Amino acid sequence: MSKIFAHRGFSGYYPENTMLAFKKAIEIGVDGIELDVQLTKDNTVVIIHDETIDRTTNGDGLVKSYTYDELKKFDASFKFNNFGFNRIPTLEEYFLLVKDLDIITNIELKTSVYQYLGIEDSVLELIKKYKLEDKVIISSFNHFSILRMKKLAPQIKCGFLSEDWIIDAGKYTFSHQIECYHPRFNNLIPEVIEELKKFNIEINTWTVNDERDMLYLKEKGIDSIITNFPDMAKNLFK
Ligand code: G3P
Ligand code: MG
Repeated sequence: MSKIFAHRGFSGYYPENTMLAFKKAIEIGVDGIELDVQLTKDNTVVIIHDETIDRTTNGDGLVKSYTYDELKKFDASFKFNNFGFNRIPTLEEYFLLVKDLDIITNIELKTSVYQYLGIEDSVLELIKKYKLEDKVIISSFNHFSILRMKKLAPQIKCGFLSEDWIIDAGKYTFSHQIECYHPRFNNLIPEVIEELKKFNIEINTWTVNDERDMLYLKEKGIDSIITNFPDMAKNLFK
């Protein structure tokens, strides 16, 4: 059975990458949560998708130009009128919520635009502090960032993210001793799935919001489906 991961938390109905969206995902019993991390000016690992705070908060500017004390004053749910104030969470705050739960966390390192050198060490330090080594998957579109993480912590599960039509993705992933491949779901045509399975690569795909796609991927034995609507997937897979 495919696992169900809430993309940026339960972002179909709640403000993405907020503690509220994570709690709501936990409430409906997801197998995992996907979230995005970036670094502030004072090297705090924060959970936010974009390099700027413009789209998701009532502020503007680059995440990396603010200290966390400055950043936490902005409202990450300002587009919604019924959820009150929700600050940009830190990864540590999130770990405190899930540390004793049976939930997998897929931490996406947003290191493609800015490399945030050192973010791998900071994330790893927090994983170790909360003993979450066996409950995380680290992914990134920046595969150099994944190799850095793998070198620091060979025991931690990692995944290469891709939105391209890569040939021999299984062979590529396996050759770097990376356990997972995280493709955009449209790219999972049968021959791609077959090649990945040949190399025993775990497949976690995104962002699957349509029932037909969910069923196809489940039938194909895809390991995890990352969706904004984990409720829909749960009902479908019952
Ligand atoms: O990690 C899967 C997915 O979140 C990658 O794309 O842009 O939603 O972070 P994005
Ligand atoms: Mg993401």
